Amino acid sequence: MANSDDNTTHLIEDAKRKFNQYADGQKNFQPPLAHIDIDIDSDGAASVHMEVQYKDVQYRFESVQEKDVQDIYQYLNSQPLVRAKYADGQTSSLKATIARVETFVDRFQNRYCPLYLYSGFVVSDAQTETFLGLVNLGSGPMPATAEMAFLNRSDCWSRPPETISGYADTSVKSPGSRLYSGVGTAEACAIIQYATRLKQEGYTINGLLPEAVVGTARLDNEGSWKSLSKAGMTLSHIDVTEDYGKHLRYQLQKSI
Ligand SMILES: CC(C)(COP(=O)(O)OP(=O)(O)OC[C@H]1O[C@@H](n2cnc3c(N)ncnc32)[C@H](O)[C@@H]1OP(=O)(O)O)[C@@H](O)C(=O)NCCC(=O)NCCS
Repeated sequence: MANSDDNTTHLIEDAKRKFNQYADGQKNFQPPLAHIDIDIDSDGAASVHMEVQYKDVQYRFESVQEKDVQDIYQYLNSQPLVRAKYADGQTSSLKATIARVETFVDRFQNRYCPLYLYSGFVVSDAQTETFLGLVNLGSGPMPATAEMAFLNRSDCWSRPPETISGYADTSVKSPGSRLYSGVGTAEACAIIQYATRLKQEGYTINGLLPEAVVGTARLDNEGSWKSLSKAGMTLSHIDVTEDYGKHLRYQLQKSI
């Protein structure tokens, strides 16, 4: 027992060192600037559009709509590889995806929702209109925190595992010949700027103005924690997130 405790302590110390070393190397990194348009009609129904350019790709972020169910299910939620290190690591059914999309839509449409405007965005390549992924904000583990999460199709990760042989389902379109590098970074940077903008405009999360954006990443999800680090998140601590299995996770945050 003492041995396994010792091992965990070593693992945590090593992981902290690894994160902080990477973060030190990113001190001069300039996060790409997001252009954010929030349109709200007289009933409070919002549509949000963001654009961010990073490494020669123009990314488009659109507030989630009901029509996005199919892409989110087909490219993300039904894919074991995409979901493996996300939340509890399980794929999500079409029914659960529909419910999730409805929740996101409600948060844009219903000004009385406690998470009004703290919701999800479909991310695409503005030039080719290719669906790339989903990034979202929700309520964090502590009051006055917003938690971000991102989920991208595996063929646009900057380092897809070598075993990827494309999607088995032939109706899934590949992103063409374009190779992506930096989608996660662009998303993390944009969503933090969006949360900052919501705070500046007085939009609360469960009745409180957010003080920080938080994110978690499994220690073995390097693309995730590096993206969050590049967006300015720092290490709060390392532990296991209840409900998400036994994996140690970086708990990261950025004050806004
Ligand atoms: C995690 C995820 C969002 C990362 O997206 P991405 O577009 O590949 O990330 P980026 O290209 O912006 O990479 C950010 C940094 O991590 C590095 N990186 C990416 N994948 C890596 C890997 N497997 N190993 C080591 N470094 C990696 C990149 O080189 C880049 O570093 P650099 O700028 O210093 O070169 C994407 O892989 C994903 O959607 N995964 C599935 C869902 C998931 O796990 N979400 C996170 C849950 S917490």
